[in-house]
Amino acid sequence: MRAAAVAHPNVALIKYWGKREASGNLPAVGSLSMTLSALVTETAIEFDESLDHDVLLLNGVEQPAEDGRLVACMDALRELAGCDLHATVESENDFPTGAGLASSASGYAALVTAAAAALGIDARDPRLIDIARIGSGSAPRSLFGGIVLLENDGDGTVCEQIITPEEWALSVVVAITTEAPKTVTSRDGMEQSRLTSPYYAAWLDTHAHDLCQATGYVRDRDFFALAELAEHNCLKMHSVMMTTRPPLMYWSPSTLAVLRRIGELRADGLPVFFTIDAGPQVKAVCPTEVADDVTAALDAVPGVLRTIAGELGYGARVVGD
Ligand code: PMV
Repeated sequence: MRAAAVAHPNVALIKYWGKREASGNLPAVGSLSMTLSALVTETAIEFDESLDHDVLLLNGVEQPAEDGRLVACMDALRELAGCDLHATVESENDFPTGAGLASSASGYAALVTAAAAALGIDARDPRLIDIARIGSGSAPRSLFGGIVLLENDGDGTVCEQIITPEEWALSVVVAITTEAPKTVTSRDGMEQSRLTSPYYAAWLDTHAHDLCQATGYVRDRDFFALAELAEHNCLKMHSVMMTTRPPLMYWSPSTLAVLRRIGELRADGLPVFFTIDAGPQVKAVCPTEVADDVTAALDAVPGVLRTIAGELGYGARVVGD
């Protein structure tokens, strides 16, 4: 009863920030994301009758047992499979963990995929989407490759691939401006925004329109329309973050320097746009044919430690046992 799986983080073009009040980690809004081939999480799981609790090793370090998300996710998997065994989970990221690079999304997508294989659950069972969501609201998106739409459906989540990696040759260049983990997690930050930001209601009110328009632009491969809307949606989310009490300032000075550089590149005719999640790293989205130019330009921005570039990635998948 063991298996291993890989999954890639994803970056949202239309963001999710805020949960519904109901339990189950249900997002308040849908989202649209790109799966990033350049970053990889690999997770191995082994169910073992000698264990009386689940054990999680993240990058080789055992994590505190009180992480309720892991146990909630594992309990849901056990219930689905009709199994009462506990497991050892070993997860490795080849990129900085907890630094705004969606490690929880790839982590929970890889966990659910590996656990399903170990427990004999069909990988296409739609209940796995809801189980991944218990771990992280953005994790269901990493179960799929290419460009992915996540929407609420009653008390559940539906998630679908709308573009395969082969259908649109896009790349993402990640400009790393600090490797330090963030001080406020997405989970805590978005709850604080819901409770205190005066702009949270406007964020919710305008969100469905952004999501619908952006999905249309993706289906039409309209890069420049998507660029303008994705940047707007990202800055709207960061406005909510910054007007949270106490404020959530996820940017570093170099984050702003990279945004400015991307603006100059686009003004000079290069097809590229930015997006930023709950961290200081900037993700530059561009057609793959200009990814080398974008990488060279962002590597030269003072304060950029390094860049990581890659094309659209595939969904979470089993890699062996
Ligand atoms: O899935 P979580 O709880 O790590 O939250 C993700 C939040 C953002 O990355 C900021 C936005 C998004 O849609 O990915």
